[in-house]
Amino acid sequence: MSTTVTIETTPYSDQKPGTSGLRKKVTVFRQPRYLENFVQAIFNVASELKGQLLIVGGDGRYYNQQAIQVILKIAAANGVKQVMVGQNGLLSTPAVSHLIRKNKAAGGIILSASHNPGGVDGDFGIKFNISNGGPAPTSFTDAVFELSKSISQYQIIETADIPLSEQQQVFIADMQINIIDPVSDYAALMAELFDFQKIKSMFTGDNFTMCFDAMHAVTGPYAKEIFENQLSANSGAVINGVPLEDFAGGHPDPNLAHAIELASLLNSGLNAPDFGAASDGDGDRNMILGQHFFVNPSDSLAIMTANAHLLPGYKSGISGVARSLPTSRAVDKVAESMGIRCYETPTGWKYFGNLLDDKRITLCGEESFGSGSDHIREKDGIWAVLFWLNLIAIKQQSVEQIAREHWKQYGRHYYTRHDYEAIDSEAAENLIQHLREQSATLAGKEYAGHKITLCDDFSYRDPVDNSIAEKQGIRILFDDESRIVYRLSGTGTEGATLRVYIENYVTDTTQHTLETQSALADLVEISKNIAQIKTHCNREQADVIT
Ligand code: G1P
Ligand code: ZN
Repeated sequence: MSTTVTIETTPYSDQKPGTSGLRKKVTVFRQPRYLENFVQAIFNVASELKGQLLIVGGDGRYYNQQAIQVILKIAAANGVKQVMVGQNGLLSTPAVSHLIRKNKAAGGIILSASHNPGGVDGDFGIKFNISNGGPAPTSFTDAVFELSKSISQYQIIETADIPLSEQQQVFIADMQINIIDPVSDYAALMAELFDFQKIKSMFTGDNFTMCFDAMHAVTGPYAKEIFENQLSANSGAVINGVPLEDFAGGHPDPNLAHAIELASLLNSGLNAPDFGAASDGDGDRNMILGQHFFVNPSDSLAIMTANAHLLPGYKSGISGVARSLPTSRAVDKVAESMGIRCYETPTGWKYFGNLLDDKRITLCGEESFGSGSDHIREKDGIWAVLFWLNLIAIKQQSVEQIAREHWKQYGRHYYTRHDYEAIDSEAAENLIQHLREQSATLAGKEYAGHKITLCDDFSYRDPVDNSIAEKQGIRILFDDESRIVYRLSGTGTEGATLRVYIENYVTDTTQHTLETQSALADLVEISKNIAQIKTHCNREQADVIT
């Protein structure tokens, strides 16, 4: 007989969700009652979950299954009627978003620290998504944080753990739990949006091959089912396809620094696959590669926007687009020529939700290897890969040809992000504060021929609910359409990370074949000078350059 018990607890002061939920070291989450407190705070704020359906799943990292057991027991004690959980506790972030929408759930809980490393000493995270399928807005996460600082008890049903390895229906007290196939509903949605027949015919005949690197994270089972089984891609198309608790010791972030096996395969000469892609820990990020060719994520969004009407799911056109502040302005050029609205939002997917719900936009993306559309309310890695495959099948061009033609028509935005990692938090705050103080006087100044036209601390008023987000990053615009943006990361778990985003705009096609870092070398120097990075952070160079 399972009964609800009330457990006395003491609060923690550090449960403040960041850009994407609460992210901490596993060791922090494993402190007594740490997870329980936070989960109870979610249930207190999300009172709409009572009597309703909740979706639960995660990226398979260490502590995923233990956390799910706790969540199920607290959910049952808090009156949730029904829960859907992915088999073995697995659900990609986009799959959770889709399941919430499809089943009209009141919300979802995602266990993931996205692209951060996993394992006993790695990172863990927990995020709540609301009934539109998207990340909870700041008003929600602020309320959870406030409650977490004074929480004194939580409700839980003390009962045996639920086996998650079989697809079955079980109960905790009155709460029904359905353990479901994590892949099938998501795969069906993809088949509605893209021309699977056309992509499949491209793979038959062996003249087109791909490689998808699942990085031992959650997308392995999705990629195998969709690319290998349903689209008949070349055998071995999916590499590192078995989700592991520690991602095989890797850093499941789909970029050139971490998806090294994939990148070297695409650069391997004659036998290289025609198309390469990777996704991150929880399946919402993507990297797209051609042979010897890297597609910058900001360009990917622009190319998608220019071509969406060719694809079945978007044939009636797109209403508008949005990009986060640091994302390059390549998509702005496309939107301008198409005569559609282009919104500039703060960093983080949660700012796209209202624009999507209000049908102001169809596509959106971030420079941090994220793109998505109104099909769900999260960014979506496999979706982006399918978008590119479908586009290649239609255009019968290589990835590189598609990108170069795009630049020819719209101009090229050279773009780079320089991350200074694990710097002292106070030093980082001082640097930003110093920039803020300078901002009023920087306009008009000239640096190596680049004249500043505007410098401010970005703030955003949501056009749908009029909420305001301030202090979202220092942006410096130059008269030649180049730009530098500075902001501090909101997802790190060690010290502070300063992100510096640098771009310039080149219309002359004879200048479209430069190497990115050399094309931006002068602006990189300017970015160091203006912010006095060495003085504040004692760093000569960025730690990670993407
Ligand atoms: C980073 C990215 C941001 C993305 C977020 C979650 O956040 O920069 O675009 O939405 O991860 O994937 P940051 O660490 O910069 O706050
Ligand atoms: Zn992610």
